[in-house]
Amino acid sequence: MERLQSAPDIELHRAENGSLSRTELLQNIKGVDGILCTLNDRIDTEVLDQAGPQLKVVSTLSVGYDHIDTSELRKRGIALGITPGVLTDATADTAIILILGAARRIRENIHAVLNREWNNWSFASSLGTQLTDKTIGIVGLGRIGTAITRRLQPFIGLNGKVIYTGNSDKPVAKELGALRVDFETLLRESDVISVSCTLNEKTREMFNYEAFKKMKKSVIFVNTARGGIVQQDDLVRALSEGLIGSVGLDVTTPEPLDSDHPLLKFQNVLVLPHIGSATIETRTMMGNMSVDNVLAGVRELKLPSGLDL
Ligand code: GLV
Repeated sequence: MERLQSAPDIELHRAENGSLSRTELLQNIKGVDGILCTLNDRIDTEVLDQAGPQLKVVSTLSVGYDHIDTSELRKRGIALGITPGVLTDATADTAIILILGAARRIRENIHAVLNREWNNWSFASSLGTQLTDKTIGIVGLGRIGTAITRRLQPFIGLNGKVIYTGNSDKPVAKELGALRVDFETLLRESDVISVSCTLNEKTREMFNYEAFKKMKKSVIFVNTARGGIVQQDDLVRALSEGLIGSVGLDVTTPEPLDSDHPLLKFQNVLVLPHIGSATIETRTMMGNMSVDNVLAGVRELKLPSGLDL
């Protein structure tokens, strides 16, 4: 923010308490040349109309841009800046926390410690599962999916297997020893399913009841991408029917999730408040990238991390 405040050619209008409500956004946006937003801000026709025709750039403090109407930006010749690359490690780390946390029943175990339900060491209680020799299913072998796979390889060992789905064969797959399969095969064969694809019309709610029904009953299902990829009511139903082993979510619909949401009642579901990129290192890099993007955009220069629309 200091970089924006001190830029001599920039007049900064900022949210006083960190984020703007939709009404505040619409009230404050008129006449701006650039918007620096987060994934909480839906940038649609209404916002773009309200901003006005002088708007040159939208810079989002995220790598995902499903909250932005890209076809409207394209039509209006407005540039879009995102923050790719810098949050790969932090997000992949978060996926590993969820996978191991779900596998080892961390929620139940922490609950037991905090609620004095911690009994003597017992041979056959608190048993989780380990990843050795398991099959990992990666949905979306992009930067983050690749980083998750690399982190998981030492856990699954030489007899473990990695399969993935995606629109095309990924060159990195060979080096990772990962095999591209169709969605049905991934659902059927995976011991762990980790979702790291983008949310779009093809992936929206691809994890529905039918998909959950095809998974192994012991599956560990983890989503660090976007809540909208999962049909959440179907997930609740599948959990109630015991169709899924355990679940780890860093993303939900909506965010935040109500504290009495049915999903939070299952002891085998671990939910984090969308902290994938939340490390000091990553957020500093994201902040700088998004400032670079918005400054370049308002000065009518090429964005350093612009998306081809
Ligand atoms: C986080 O979810 C991002 O898209 O940056």
